[in-house]
Amino acid sequence: MNGDNDARLTFAVGMARRVGALIRERRVKSDIDVRFKGPQDYVTEIDEEAERVIRQCISTAYPDDAVLGEELGGTASDATWVIDPIDGTSNFVRGIPHYAVSIGFVRDGVPLIGVIYDPELDLLYSAQHGGGAFCNGHRMSAAANAGLESAMIEMGCWRRRPPATNFSDAIGRMVHAGLDFRWRGSAALALADVARGMSDAFFGLHLNSWDAAAGIVIVREAGGQTTDFFANDGLCRGNALLASGPGVFSELSAIAFSQSPTGDL
Ligand code: IPD
Ligand code: CA
Ligand code: CA
Repeated sequence: MNGDNDARLTFAVGMARRVGALIRERRVKSDIDVRFKGPQDYVTEIDEEAERVIRQCISTAYPDDAVLGEELGGTASDATWVIDPIDGTSNFVRGIPHYAVSIGFVRDGVPLIGVIYDPELDLLYSAQHGGGAFCNGHRMSAAANAGLESAMIEMGCWRRRPPATNFSDAIGRMVHAGLDFRWRGSAALALADVARGMSDAFFGLHLNSWDAAAGIVIVREAGGQTTDFFANDGLCRGNALLASGPGVFSELSAIAFSQSPTGDL
């Protein structure tokens, strides 16, 4: 099975680079057709085109695998690719160069492969289960920081679900615990930053699996910890997500989910 994972990882890396280059080139060269799927929820013709390219590559190389994608949907199976052609579309449409291609692979409910590509900075984050996490070929390690007073956390909030009081209460508790905050609009890149130790944690109210699957593998393989995102059919329904370096995880979990020990918000 490891040879199988190696091949899938190599395939995903090539696909992410190819699609990332396409997205970046389109952003620079064309007027972009932008639509809303809901409040603060953008989609462009480029999101759709990029997802079609990824799907075509997967159906050619792995015709028996399922694909779940943000723009074109799909259904899960025991071997599922989980793809977000542009994570950070709200940045992309504004010309803010902070967005990424995110490609995960989940087998029997276990996330095995994660690839996130930032085409603006040419940073390729990759990991496979049991194989470590890498940025442009260099091994990454999550931060060892154990003090919330010196920790930085990035947040994310999906607006298609009504804002949960529990979420704002959790943010309030984090402010009182002394954390510093960022909210930069790409959960995938926020998770990559946790993996490389540039930030200490990420906390999202509700992510879909295409936002989270790749980043979860990468954070775990970098020595970080995450909540059990795939519990309660997180693959198809999404979930809240906390991810962090190992030194702050249990204290942060207690603060984030104090109303709900199961990790629901
Ligand atoms: C969004 C981003 C954002 C997170 C949202 C996601 P999109 O993805 O990852 O950081 O807070 O929950 O929906 O729409 O840019 O692909
Ligand atoms: Ca996304
Ligand atoms: Ca997206």
